[in-house]
Amino acid sequence: MDQVSADFARGEFTAIMGPSGSGKSTLMHCLAGLDSATSGAVRIGDTELTNLSDKQMTRLRRDRIGFVFQAFNLVPTLTALENITLPLDIAGRKADQEWLDTVLGRLGLTDRLGHRPSELSGGQQQRVACARALAGKPEIIFGDEPTGNLDSRASEEVLSILRAAVNEFGQTVVIVTHEPHAASFADRVVFLADGRIVSELRDPTAESVLDRMKSLEQA
Ligand SMILES: Nc1ncnc2c1ncn2[C@@H]1O[C@H](COP(=O)(O)OP(=O)(O)OP(=O)(O)O)[C@@H](O)[C@H]1O
Ligand SMILES: [Mg+2]
Repeated sequence: MDQVSADFARGEFTAIMGPSGSGKSTLMHCLAGLDSATSGAVRIGDTELTNLSDKQMTRLRRDRIGFVFQAFNLVPTLTALENITLPLDIAGRKADQEWLDTVLGRLGLTDRLGHRPSELSGGQQQRVACARALAGKPEIIFGDEPTGNLDSRASEEVLSILRAAVNEFGQTVVIVTHEPHAASFADRVVFLADGRIVSELRDPTAESVLDRMKSLEQA
């Protein structure tokens, strides 16, 4: 990262875009306390991440953050359902059953819950990872290409449920995507290049995102 300064407002959906290697995953890992910057600061609400002990950081990630990784990071020995409820189980919290059923239904996972990750397709594993991030209604959900392996229908479901998390529960969502259509679900698009923020767009449409991507390529 190079001189990045950005705010992600509560209750807003932001998409991060940019060429491969531009630093999207790195930025997201720093924001979520999975990686630390050599200098600078990251704050979630009033909490300054740089000052936290390992234990406090673990608790913050567990209680306030949901993360969908570019590589799904499911636990191979657990079933789909066990993976989804793992963060809640560790925290000793109970899932809101109605919300969990909504998430599982909309992501088309209801009949795959007893399967282990190795028995699921790539797209199903990705949807399990999304359900895990959504299950506990965390303050902020980060998704690193959460629709990268999905067909258009499944992709639409993931994006609309992320949109619903923002609209209905006031959660904050930040995703990385390469797809203008996926970015159009967001309130705002932040464009990265060579570790810097080079452009921003409000209320994006697939067309306006594509236009901006083209003009950035030519710049
Ligand atoms: N642990 C690391 N040590 C050194 N360099 C790294 C490390 N992790 C990533 N990089 C480099 O930092 C740059 C940004 O990587 P990053 O994974 O953030 O890119 P990205 O924008 O997410 O790309 P993609 O779209 O391919 O996922 C790349 O050049 C990458 O090789
Ligand atoms: Mg990446």
